Amino acid sequence: MERIYVGVFEMFGSPSARGVSAWTHPRSDLTKFHDTQHWISLAKTLDDAGFDWLFFADSFGYPTIDGQMVGAAARYGINFPLMDPQLLLPILAEHTTNLGLVVTETTGLHHPFETARRFATLDHLSGGRLGMNVVTGSIQNVVADLFGHERMREHDLRYDMAQEYLDLTRRFWEESWDDGALVNDPSAPVYVDPEKLHMIEHEGQFYRSRGYLTVDPSAQRTPVIFQAGSSGRGKEFAAANADCVLLQSSAPEQMAANIADIRRRAEANGRDPRSVKVVATQSFFVAEDAADARALQQEFRDMQTVEVAAAMFVSNTGIDLLALDPAKPLSQIPLDEVVGQMGQSNIDRFVGPDGTGPSVGEILEQLRVRGIRGSQMVGTPVEVADQIEEFLEATDLDGIMVDPLFGAEDIRDFARLVMPELRRRGRLGDQPAGTTLRDRLFAEQPQVTVAS
Ligand SMILES: Cc1cc2nc3c(=O)[nH]c(=O)nc-3n(C[C@H](O)[C@H](O)[C@H](O)COP(=O)(O)O)c2cc1C
Repeated sequence: MERIYVGVFEMFGSPSARGVSAWTHPRSDLTKFHDTQHWISLAKTLDDAGFDWLFFADSFGYPTIDGQMVGAAARYGINFPLMDPQLLLPILAEHTTNLGLVVTETTGLHHPFETARRFATLDHLSGGRLGMNVVTGSIQNVVADLFGHERMREHDLRYDMAQEYLDLTRRFWEESWDDGALVNDPSAPVYVDPEKLHMIEHEGQFYRSRGYLTVDPSAQRTPVIFQAGSSGRGKEFAAANADCVLLQSSAPEQMAANIADIRRRAEANGRDPRSVKVVATQSFFVAEDAADARALQQEFRDMQTVEVAAAMFVSNTGIDLLALDPAKPLSQIPLDEVVGQMGQSNIDRFVGPDGTGPSVGEILEQLRVRGIRGSQMVGTPVEVADQIEEFLEATDLDGIMVDPLFGAEDIRDFARLVMPELRRRGRLGDQPAGTTLRDRLFAEQPQVTVAS
């Protein structure tokens, strides 16, 4: 019985994230993000229930049209406000034992040395439980404005920069200090053996550096690398670099083809295709009684608006769907110009080979119901566990990332109702205390099966 990886998707803010909005519902705690106790309590729940990791997405942008924030972004809290999740990690590490802690880093904004130092620090503080989600970043037009870049960097150029950035960061983690360089012998006295340090020298297309990593190696040295871009170039980057690829779940046939493509590309990069874990976001309405689960789904659907969905889409793609002819497909505008340079996955999703595809009106309705979240599963714990198993079987996914719609209550329900069912089926791994996230994801561990 193969083990399933189960993570949780979160953002440190943004009450309405990724095209859906439920923060006004009584069940929701999506506006409690300033409260560290909120996060500590959630992280402990995950740790106790055996989740593999807690993931924080991050980005700097918010929805704009013609350089102005769209009114809906502020009014409903769409990708705004958003705090820095890297600062939350040490607090959560302190209150958990085994849970992996994965945080997003946008490339192109920091120097690789500074990133290497910051992530080495975080890996130390979490006892080797750190994952780094490397993204070239959504909402790049706003990033360019905020960071004072002369213009938005092109989509593929961002990936070229990301490759050099990650290569150099890795060199700092892996090559600057030999094992055993930190001697810490007061009797000698020697703290660090200078013979075991190596200068990193790099002169590349985008970055230059010369010197030593100023943090000694952490338990993992290199954190587990996650990656989430699913354009062709994004998949290429993932195949070369990622330990774990994140997708947004969609129709099983489409996902299966996408995953086969990622594994093929990994193999072409000289990697074992099974060594790349592929995980998709998935939302749930689960309750002991299936009717309650369905009622909750209906309540959620009734709350969703085209305005929020359109604000998300403009921020991800540069395309204002509300300004287009609803009867015609997306190809009514030239897709290969500025708009395609923002993020391609959400355009590709709606454009067929020869410009065909759903009408803008249909796209808006699809987005209204689920934004850019993964698909939704609904039912009792047994029904939901069946659906997860079927979905993984049909797609060759290695796991899921629970994507809460109302907030922590969704995750608590999943932990309370679905995790024990997955455990009963022998689908969850267990981690010996003190091991790293890399060990947890890549060591073949004996399965714990509780007889029913
Ligand atoms: C599960 C998941 C998580 C993601 N998390 C982030 C994130 O935290 N920050 C970000 O800028 N992009 C994130 N993305 C990716 C963006 O949506 C976007 O695809 C990417 O940054 C642009 O690259 P692409 O054109 O290769 O898709 C995520 C995507 C998925 C499916």
